[in-house]
Amino acid sequence: MARFIGILSAKGGVGKTTTSINLGIALTKYGKRVVIVDGNLTTPNVGVSLGVASVPVHLHHVLAGKKKIKDAVYQHESGALVVPASISVHDIGEINPSRLKRCLTPLKRMADIVIIDGAAGLGAEATAAIKASDEIIVVTNPDILAVADALKAIKFAEKFGKETIGVIVTRTKGDKVELKPKEIERLLEKPVLGVVPEDKCVKKALSKRNPVISTHPNSSSAIAYKKLAANILGENYKPESFVEFVKDYFKLI
Ligand SMILES: Nc1ncnc2c1ncn2[C@@H]1O[C@H](COP(=O)(O)OP(=O)(O)OP(=O)(O)O)[C@@H](O)[C@H]1O
Ligand SMILES: [Mg+2]
Repeated sequence: MARFIGILSAKGGVGKTTTSINLGIALTKYGKRVVIVDGNLTTPNVGVSLGVASVPVHLHHVLAGKKKIKDAVYQHESGALVVPASISVHDIGEINPSRLKRCLTPLKRMADIVIIDGAAGLGAEATAAIKASDEIIVVTNPDILAVADALKAIKFAEKFGKETIGVIVTRTKGDKVELKPKEIERLLEKPVLGVVPEDKCVKKALSKRNPVISTHPNSSSAIAYKKLAANILGENYKPESFVEFVKDYFKLI
């Protein structure tokens, strides 16, 4: 039976989608069957980011009761499965986000882990992603505004009985003014599961409609996502290449 993990933040643009796709693919490298679901129903980014945006059947068809979820599952070249949402504005008013949990239930038998990329804010879409998840991971940037919104997301998820298992800090630059992981742990009272540095390879990857873990597997952000996957699974991190091993060994990331 799959573990459903919601990737949330409350604040927009902190790195939820980047985390959902790269973490999802990193988990496949540890032998897990993974489905990445675009739970951002009005402004979906997962399909575009993975090069599967224009598909015949998408999540909106399933939410509208016109298709079954199995018909909206596509395989990415990495081996991860993807459920893209519709990028058409015409589909926005047609669906009821509260049906998300029920629509995703059949994925339980298809995967070990289902990652749900949540929408920003704490409205109906984010609520639907929380309700469909067994556990939550909150993404934040290392600044006080993002962390304040991360706290809101954690508390909001608690209202639905959903525990946040930890926090991912993305786009760290190592500036003196940045909040450090220990401070973020203290403020949020949750463990930091991973730290992903600011990395220009992320944007290069996006321009190729592929995640950084596939296009630049030895980059600092890709290595961070592989370490994160190992941490979430409670396994030892295994570098995939000699370059990766050296970068990790000498703490070059
Ligand atoms: N580690 C990183 N280094 C550099 N750029 C990054 C990194 N992580 C994310 N980005 C960039 O930051 C922007 C926002 O990232 P992303 O779309 O993942 O955030 P989001 O939280 O999903 O946003 P939204 O709330 O709009 O859904 C994107 O342009 C992405 O390419
Ligand atoms: Mg997003």
